[in-house]
Amino acid sequence: MPLTDKNLLSINSLSIEQIELILDTAESFKEVSSREIKKVPTLRGKTIINLFYEPSTRTRTSFEIAAKRMSADAINISVATSSTVKGETVKDTARNLEAMKPDCLVVRHASAGIPEMLAKYVNCAVINAGDGAHEHPTQALLDIMTVKEKLGKIDGLKVVIIGDIAHSRVARSNIIGFSKLGASVVVTGPETLMPKGIEELGCTVAPDTAAAIKGADVIMMLRIQLERQGGSLLPTLREYATRWGLDTDKLLNAQKEVIILHPGPINRGVEISSEVADGRYSLILEQVTNGLAIRMALFYLLLGGTREQSD
Ligand code: CP
Repeated sequence: MPLTDKNLLSINSLSIEQIELILDTAESFKEVSSREIKKVPTLRGKTIINLFYEPSTRTRTSFEIAAKRMSADAINISVATSSTVKGETVKDTARNLEAMKPDCLVVRHASAGIPEMLAKYVNCAVINAGDGAHEHPTQALLDIMTVKEKLGKIDGLKVVIIGDIAHSRVARSNIIGFSKLGASVVVTGPETLMPKGIEELGCTVAPDTAAAIKGADVIMMLRIQLERQGGSLLPTLREYATRWGLDTDKLLNAQKEVIILHPGPINRGVEISSEVADGRYSLILEQVTNGLAIRMALFYLLLGGTREQSD
């Protein structure tokens, strides 16, 4: 089934078949990045604008590289030096950018729902690159791709997500995405960072890390998002690391060939020890590599590139 919407706003809105189409397309585009000449003419003549109202290293750069590897023109709006500082609204900024006829706006914003709202006001495609604590659909797609590549399936796996569930758009998109594909998703973290009713997204809540990790095939650690925590929702960072951080001792109860994921950036020694982050079970950098392939696939599927040109 092709992508029926011109936008990618959430993982929730994708069917299983559409997720599989994106994964298959990403696998075929991944090879482009290992070529000596890392460029295909697939999106020649298209224009993509990155509009990021929050900091980003992985997502913004990979959207830009994805566009350039497909021969599109990629423009990054630096919000700090844009007319946003003069008080221009997000909607006005998006409508003015659209007046220059781009084909796609890639939007990251601290408020949930901004990409969806902008999609109503512009005719070009809108991709959600993370909105508040709501969704980060391309992160979930790259995480699913990374696990599927390594273990060959998603159905039947135990996927554990640990940490600041309340503030994490990565957690929300991954709970929805992995459970949609048949994984059993278990979340755990401090009570103050566990939203009431999170089970409705398709997961169960474990009381502690030991219970959560038992038999896990995949462990996804979340960054402590101090910038989104209004008050003090945590004990000390040292206590957090002891109770909820991942180190080699805690890994003993997982499956023998467990996969460790983290969306980045990492707070080393807080949610994950360097030994685990850089160890043999970690696929953290493979996630970044796959992020590029997923974003190439989405541009191709949403912007109507021709496949013949990419071969
Ligand atoms: N995973 C992720 O969204 O990282 P960035 O904030 O660096 O884009």
